[in-house]
Amino acid sequence: MYVCICNVVTEDDVHGCLANGCRTAKEVKAACGFKPGCGMCTKRIHTMVSEYRTAGELADALTGGPLPLAAVAEAPAAPQIVPDAAEGGTAPQTAA
Ligand code: FES
Repeated sequence: MYVCICNVVTEDDVHGCLANGCRTAKEVKAACGFKPGCGMCTKRIHTMVSEYRTAGELADALTGGPLPLAAVAEAPAAPQIVPDAAEGGTAPQTAA
């Protein structure tokens, strides 16, 4: 469905802008290449941005939000498995 007839912008276009990081109606308009028109779509775009934000906040509230980032310690080197010739090469041993 068209959101802006003057600029031929659809709901999918706006949702795509929001998914790509636009967080305000001004950013959506810039990303969609809006040119000055009648302005009838402005309220609808603001509503769509607000709905998108609300949906994200609701999802965060239900899931506990995104986990905080934490440093990951470097894992120790895994021991190398060397075949033991005395046992037919089947018993794993660690390299010296
Ligand atoms: S409908 Fe968007 S500027 Fe006219």
